[in-house]
Amino acid sequence: MKQVVLATRNKGKIVEFERLLSELASDIHVLGLSDFPDMPDVEESGTTLQENALLKSRAIAAFTSLPSLADDSGLFVSALGGDPGVYSARWAGAHGDDEANTEKVLGQMRALAQLDPNLDRSASFKCVIALSFPKGHAQAGRDFIEQGEMPGALIESPRGDHGFGYDPIFIPSGLTLTSAELSAEQKDSISHRGRAMRQIAPILIELL
Ligand code: IMP
Repeated sequence: MKQVVLATRNKGKIVEFERLLSELASDIHVLGLSDFPDMPDVEESGTTLQENALLKSRAIAAFTSLPSLADDSGLFVSALGGDPGVYSARWAGAHGDDEANTEKVLGQMRALAQLDPNLDRSASFKCVIALSFPKGHAQAGRDFIEQGEMPGALIESPRGDHGFGYDPIFIPSGLTLTSAELSAEQKDSISHRGRAMRQIAPILIELL
């Protein structure tokens, strides 16, 4: 069995990625960070999604001696000049406070809408996924990068209980529901992360 480490402690994400890989290959076992409890946290000190994804995939490949995949994602709002972008998880200060982050973006949009009733409400979720290989592997020292995007627009107040982060205030292009009103499967089929994952999967299978 070949092995790959996915930079997450979320069992759901591992199962989902394993399912995606199993459609293309049957001999890959996906490990997560919970399988390496001594792995220190990697500081996301980059200024782009790609830098952060690479910081994580390289550090995990070095620590685990296994091929490693890491993603970084964020919400890019046109009217905010691309903010919160790479800082999406800590936009309101504390890391991962989804409600405070969402409220802050809504407050910024409300302030702008008072100045411009035709405010551009377009936004996009972006995800970059990086694949790195450990010393001794035929691909050691090479990194592979794939990106996925989900364009859409922000609404004025939250709707829906699924998903996480900014999902309740985001309507993907072509839909009328927010991404928090979609099922997990519906969201995966169009999401920035789903798209990036589906692009990196065949590369991983070929190089593992
Ligand atoms: P990370 O890639 O897990 O570090 O996510 C960065 C942040 O971007 C998250 O904490 C969320 O605030 C936001 N984000 C990324 N992907 C999504 C998504 O699919 N829905 C809602 N928010 C997201």
